[in-house]
Amino acid sequence: MQLTITKADQLKSKPDDSKLGFGTTFTDHMFNMDYNLEKGWHNPRIESYGSIDLDPSTMMLHYGQGVFEGLKAYKTGSGAVQLFRPKDNFKRLNRSSRSMCIPEVDEAFGLHALKQLITIEKDWVPSAPETSLYIRPTIIATDPFLGVRASHTYRFFIILSPVGAYYAEGFNPVKIWVTKDHVRAVRGGIGEAKTPGNYAASLFAGEDANKKGYAQVLWLDGVEQKYVEEVGSMNIFFVINDELITPMLNGSILPGITRDSVISLAKIWNVKIAERQISIDEVMDANDSGKLSEIFGSGTAAVISPVGELKYGDRVISIGDGKVGPMANKFYKAITDIQYGKAEDPKGWIEPVS
Ligand code: COI
Repeated sequence: MQLTITKADQLKSKPDDSKLGFGTTFTDHMFNMDYNLEKGWHNPRIESYGSIDLDPSTMMLHYGQGVFEGLKAYKTGSGAVQLFRPKDNFKRLNRSSRSMCIPEVDEAFGLHALKQLITIEKDWVPSAPETSLYIRPTIIATDPFLGVRASHTYRFFIILSPVGAYYAEGFNPVKIWVTKDHVRAVRGGIGEAKTPGNYAASLFAGEDANKKGYAQVLWLDGVEQKYVEEVGSMNIFFVINDELITPMLNGSILPGITRDSVISLAKIWNVKIAERQISIDEVMDANDSGKLSEIFGSGTAAVISPVGELKYGDRVISIGDGKVGPMANKFYKAITDIQYGKAEDPKGWIEPVS
């Protein structure tokens, strides 16, 4: 497939690197590619960033048939630009697509197109500490049709956004609400897919939590509401008795790439690590007996995000006196040092762009 490149006539002014938030500013160009039954994926192109003209009956708008990814490009001290585990993101994009009846894309071609796009936009990769270029590959169903079935046409696009920290707290402990009233996903559903419906399902409880001063919701399993699942914008880790514990992947939890990086590093460092079911009662009991020393989340946008407070029902527990714990610190430093080219990449995770 031949990638066509058409440069934008006008370039935007770039934001101040030191004032970046998350996901508000977008670069000058984007990648687009179309799918139909006759041609399969075709017409890959890099062109000006701009709106997409959609018929009001477009299936994505009605039934949410779509998938997306989140990854980042980082600027190193020498000015080079590099990606962190992009092949895993393209693999997961296809995995999500399979569960949403969306045709798979050629992963190698997708990565090639992404590198071309970033090369064109390399001046948009910020260099202030803890900033990066967030990458959002997305596929949407584009048939103009109101019947419920899988679409026959799709658009795959990639947009880029220079970002700072995802949470206003930055790398400081966040407060998390454990909801008893809502569930995000159930086993056998689409919880493990990166698809808009999972995020839509999180909004009601998320807004409720925000109003009460909590940054995010920690979801329990959708059947018994007993076992810890994930936070929606990140996976979750507990340090109990010096052992790192994270819920095992069960079909309703997103298989996070940062989650996998934490597990891999823990194994390299000989930190005890378990991927298993963990109930919210076990977490509360561990807190009561003084064995719970840390909780932190992991995600592309969130990186490593320490949790300083957990609310479950009437109980509010403070973890590690609300300070960043040593494990969270160690993983944050190790992962970001690899991402920004300050440390050896022990697992071949880095993919150079330029
Ligand atoms: C990511 O971490 O990249 C995500 O897609 C999570 C999203 C809530 C920002």
